[in-house]
Amino acid sequence: MCKSIYLTTAIDYVNGQPHLGHAYEKVLTDVLARFHRTQGADVFFLTGADEHGQKVQQAALAQNKSPQEYCDELAISWSNFIEKLGISHNDYIRTTQARHSKVVTTILSKLYKEGHFYKESYKGFYSTKEETFLTEKDRLPDGSFAPMWGEVQELIEDNYYFKLGVHQQWLIDYIESHPDFIYPEYRKNEVLGFLKNEKLGDLCISRPKARLSWGIPLPFDPEYVTYVWFDALVNYFTIAAAYGDTQVLSSIGLTKEDFPETAQQERQLWPADFHVIGKDIVKFHAVYWPIMLKAIGAPLPKKLAVHGWWQKDNQKMSKSTGNVVEPIAVIEEWGLDAFRYYVLRELEVGPDGNWTDAGFASRYQAELANGLGNLINRSISMLGRYRNGVVPARHDELKTDAENSCAAAFKCYSEIKIQGALIRIWELINRANQYVDQTAPFKLAKQPEQAARLDEVLYNLVEVCRILAVLLWPVLPKTSEKIYSQLGLHDSPDQWSSCQWGGLQPGHVVGKPEPLFPRRDLNK
Ligand code: MSP
Repeated sequence: MCKSIYLTTAIDYVNGQPHLGHAYEKVLTDVLARFHRTQGADVFFLTGADEHGQKVQQAALAQNKSPQEYCDELAISWSNFIEKLGISHNDYIRTTQARHSKVVTTILSKLYKEGHFYKESYKGFYSTKEETFLTEKDRLPDGSFAPMWGEVQELIEDNYYFKLGVHQQWLIDYIESHPDFIYPEYRKNEVLGFLKNEKLGDLCISRPKARLSWGIPLPFDPEYVTYVWFDALVNYFTIAAAYGDTQVLSSIGLTKEDFPETAQQERQLWPADFHVIGKDIVKFHAVYWPIMLKAIGAPLPKKLAVHGWWQKDNQKMSKSTGNVVEPIAVIEEWGLDAFRYYVLRELEVGPDGNWTDAGFASRYQAELANGLGNLINRSISMLGRYRNGVVPARHDELKTDAENSCAAAFKCYSEIKIQGALIRIWELINRANQYVDQTAPFKLAKQPEQAARLDEVLYNLVEVCRILAVLLWPVLPKTSEKIYSQLGLHDSPDQWSSCQWGGLQPGHVVGKPEPLFPRRDLNK
């Protein structure tokens, strides 16, 4: 069986509302998943929810609910949110599911037996908010801890530790010999800088039940639950096991029969091809996770694609100040594809981004309504008006422009440069809109001796429209499908091979144009 291309997002903390950052990461991963599907690959796209930990326990308690009840309620609003984003995920994992605790427990037992853990007493400071132990290095010059840690308590506690430190040099060598492991390169350099300059401590992987009960119990000590990050990172592996990935199952000693719900849909998923994550969780994915996998005896994911963070109006988004972008409200007002377009066109994968409502409206009007929408609308309208919608003989005047855009967009998509892909696609849109102005088909139509020239121009225009649908499908799937349907095509623009010039056959009859992105009165 062939290996699928396996893409994942981070799994979201369920306490708290879904926001722009969550939406962006999912849409970005969806674009990568769809792009790989256009190559005919079998793609598996996973997203989900991170439901354990102290914050969830506290939030549930504050509402007088059990943590499970609290998570089940939130799961409904998260699933509505995901649906509105139109993403093409194959599964949604919740860390409270039985399939997940089975894999986490099995891994913990295996690593415990093989001597990767030890128990030790700790005396020091603990941040409940970040669920992490702090050291002297985390103190500010005045001895206090920064507000980001929330309330800091001093405690003495016995816990289990995972021997991370012994793998430090191995990890440095691995990252250096796999230059594509962390994207973009500057994030890789940050990780290497950290690993080369600081001694890697061991990782505390347990929390005493007396303090935190909402987690997966340690199989070798019932007084403890698993540290939420150890539990959460395993989610990527859980799904590979659940879909019967033979290599994953044998590495942890489970079998297909342990996952009756999904084992029939067998897939070879591991290693993951892309873990798409935000910049704040690089250390967990580039340091802890690789070492956990090494201890398990499984290969490392092929790539961590690390995106930046969104701000709004150059400020951190915050509910309390009202400075937030509500993705669902934007989608309801402007349409899903307009939202997807803006977040991917505005921000390259890597740096931080800044959302402004004015910037959104201006891209909508200039690039979607006046650029793409206008081209599609006038091309199909003119073919209808001047040739009853019948496609004339093939003509290749814009063929080279289209081919150049296809090649450039392909390279960009393959390199996770989605913004770059959109820029190159818009070059073709602008070229075609210019072509209308230069060739003036409305004038040609009034000159009977120019009938052959009008045929040529109309062919080039509708064929560019068709190719644009294919190029845009990963980012604007609904719009691309509408373009195909307005062109009277009954298949889907979801295969990259269809961007070859000459797909529209002479004699084919196109459908009726309908505005894709109606112009807005921006002064209202
Ligand atoms: N539960 C952990 C991830 C565990 S993965 C094994 C977590 N959850 S989160 O809900 O806080 O964040 C989920 C993702 O959203 C992360 O990749 C994070 O970087 C991303 N974002 C959160 N806020 C963001 C922005 N303002 N902008 C862009 N992405 C941001 O971390």
